[in-house]
Amino acid sequence: MTDLSDKSIFLTGSGGVLGSTYVRRMLDAGARVIASELPGARYDGLAAKFGQNENFALYEMDVADEAAVGDTVSQILADGHKPNVFFNNASITGEMLMKAGAEFPDLANTTLDSWNKALSVNLTGPFLLAREIDRQVLGKWDLKLINIASMYALRAPHHDIYEGMPFKNFSAYQATKAGIHGLTLWLASSWRHKATVNTLAPGAVFNGHSEEFQKRVSELIMQGRMAQPDEIADVALFLSSSGANHMTGQFVNVDGGYSAW
Ligand SMILES: NC(=O)c1ccc[n+]([C@@H]2O[C@H](COP(=O)([O-])OP(=O)(O)OC[C@H]3O[C@@H](n4cnc5c(N)ncnc54)[C@H](O)[C@@H]3O)[C@@H](O)[C@H]2O)c1
Repeated sequence: MTDLSDKSIFLTGSGGVLGSTYVRRMLDAGARVIASELPGARYDGLAAKFGQNENFALYEMDVADEAAVGDTVSQILADGHKPNVFFNNASITGEMLMKAGAEFPDLANTTLDSWNKALSVNLTGPFLLAREIDRQVLGKWDLKLINIASMYALRAPHHDIYEGMPFKNFSAYQATKAGIHGLTLWLASSWRHKATVNTLAPGAVFNGHSEEFQKRVSELIMQGRMAQPDEIADVALFLSSSGANHMTGQFVNVDGGYSAW
């Protein structure tokens, strides 16, 4: 089992299906976990589930809010935390947009506002956190930054599998997930003597999807099935650990072979 007892891990968007799995598994591995999330049900869920654990701390933070990102990192340090691993995990997904009741836009109807909103959370947010790390933490102790991309960063989605589904894939998602790896490469080089920076790219993660969607997507995956959240967490934990000290600037696919076909 990966040992994270020397790690203090800060994550954004910690209340989602993967974020909350990372939190649980990191605590189990002995890490201190400093979670952050938007105010609301997901924040409350994290507080209810992990709030009693003395190795767990929780902060409200909107990754797209420039002042909030700076203030939160300052507050974490003022509270005595010494984060040495950071996860840029928060993101706006097609599933989330549809749950929010938005009319899902085809490309012709994608407004500049919705494009900019996706960029601000999925790409500007990671920049803001990286900049704050650079300003407030870099050089104090060794660091790891893990940026979360997707199997839809460097490979195209097959749009047909979303036909008639209650969620969709959208253009800004792919653009931001490709862009975040550019940020990884730039930071890995810039911070090379002080931090490692890698991209973790999850594949299709099972979260109660219909039989029909599972069948459609599984045909595109070498292993013929979707991932369980814990299978992505296994690799997230490894990338957080000292076992990954000589890895930097890498794009790590955990997709059952989707990207290799
Ligand atoms: N689940 C998958 O199949 C899958 C596949 C590939 C990549 N990913 C990536 O993994 C990461 C986690 O995905 P997930 O499946 O847990 O998604 P999710 O939608 O369950 O969780 C995303 C979290 O981000 C939070 N968030 C949204 N906007 C925010 C903001 N402005 N500030 C702070 N937090 C905000 C949400 O509240 C939510 O809890 C994302 O980056 C996603 O793109 C997921």
